This record gives sequence, C-alpha cells and structure tokens, in this order.
Amino acid sequence: MKTEYEFRPKILGFLCNWCCYAGADLCGISRFQYPPYIKVIRLMCSGRVDPLFIFRSFLNGMDGVFIGGCWPGECHYSTEGNYDALTKKYIYKKLLAHIGINPDRLRLEWVSASEGIRFAEVMNSFSKQLIDMGPIGKAEGLADEELKSRLQVASSLVPYLKLVEREKIRVRFQTEKEYEEYFNGEKFTKLFDEMIAKNVTTGLLLALLRKRDSSIDEIAQSLAVDRSVAIQQLQASVRQGFVHFDEAHNRYGVAN
Ligand code: FES
Repeated sequence: MKTEYEFRPKILGFLCNWCCYAGADLCGISRFQYPPYIKVIRLMCSGRVDPLFIFRSFLNGMDGVFIGGCWPGECHYSTEGNYDALTKKYIYKKLLAHIGINPDRLRLEWVSASEGIRFAEVMNSFSKQLIDMGPIGKAEGLADEELKSRLQVASSLVPYLKLVEREKIRVRFQTEKEYEEYFNGEKFTKLFDEMIAKNVTTGLLLALLRKRDSSIDEIAQSLAVDRSVAIQQLQASVRQGFVHFDEAHNRYGVAN
C-alpha cells in the first residue's frame, strides 16, 4: 500500500481566450491527458495579466502560475499584449528571485488554438517541474510567515513597479531572442538594481523591523545579503528617516 505523501502542486493558469484557452479546450476534446489540479482563468489577452494577479496567486497558496498567450505576431489586439506579457515575465521572474522565490514558478508559453497536444505537453512539463521543486516556501527554505511577508512586500510595490515598467523599462522588439538579450543584459540589470531591487529590499527591511528590532547581522541574514550590503541599506534607510538606530542596544528599528 502506498502511504507516502504525494505532492500535487497547485497551479493557476491565466489563458488568453483566443489561443491558449481554445488550445486547452481542444486538448480536452481530444482527450490528451494533463494533471487535473491545474485551475484556469480565461482572459482576453495574455497582456491583461496584472502583476498583482501573480503575487496574489502565490499568496493564496499556488505553487506555480502559468500564463498562456498567442504566439508572437498573432496577438488579436493591435497593442500586441503578448509582448507586454513577455516583458512582465522577465521583470517578475527577476523580482521573484530577488525575494527568494524560485522564478521558475512563473511560466509563460505560447499555445495556439490548434495546439491541443502542445497545451497538454506544456502543462505536464510545468507540473513535473513544480513537483521536482516542491511546495512553495518549503522548497525555498522560507517559513509560511516569511513567505507571506515577502509576497506582501512585492504586492504592495506593484503600483510603483508598473510605473517603472511603463516609464523606464517597456521595450518593443521583433523577436524573443532580442527580449532575452535585453533582459539578461547589463542595461536592464542596472535599471532593475537601481529602480526595483533597492525599493524591494527597503520594503523587506521595514517588514522585518516592524516585527522586531534587529542587529545588523540578523538583518543581513534575514535579507540574505552580505553584511556590507545590509549596512549600506540601513544607512540609506536611516538617512531617509524610515529607520532609527538604538545605540544603547546596538539594534535598528522602524522610525516613529
Ligand atoms: Fe492572445 Fe493577445 S490575444 S495574447
């Protein structure tokens, strides 16, 4: 008798109505097999996936979030929302990694209405990847409370992140390779570090200090950064008036 606990990842898929959703429909009609624990939400375009949807999905216990759109060049809208989805994929994967969550928990794929078999293949592959990874939080070595706190910090920054994306990051290329090169390149890394990472780290720092006053070493350990990086971050936060230093106890806390 099999008594072992079998991990079944919770997966939420946001599918474009015109292609991936129709592909999923064809997959069902054709009786191609894919895991039954994938829940689907139909949207009119993959570009409609708001970053908040991603973080809220994880906050609500999803182990993986899937976005399915039309192939590049085949989006049904003149705004070509699937290219926006591609941009978001790179930004939010990097952000997930920055807050200590495996970025592969977010997956974007193109599936046309006639690719029922491809939908099944993609879902089977994503499911296997998540099973290998393990449950969200546990696999990353994060306690439930810490996982929640990190995702809440990321969620709270979404309005700012959308502004940064629109004003500073949004790009439009012709090929996926160009997107890959840009988002793996120096220019984006610099922008991400300056415009996003610092703010996220400040958010994580404040979330920690709201729970308890902490020493530099505790802060560095909690943020998973070097001591020197923690010191820089603290000095900036003290200058900005967010954080105060208690000399008597050698600890930092949230400024009143
Ligand atoms: Fe399908 Fe835009 S309509 S991705």
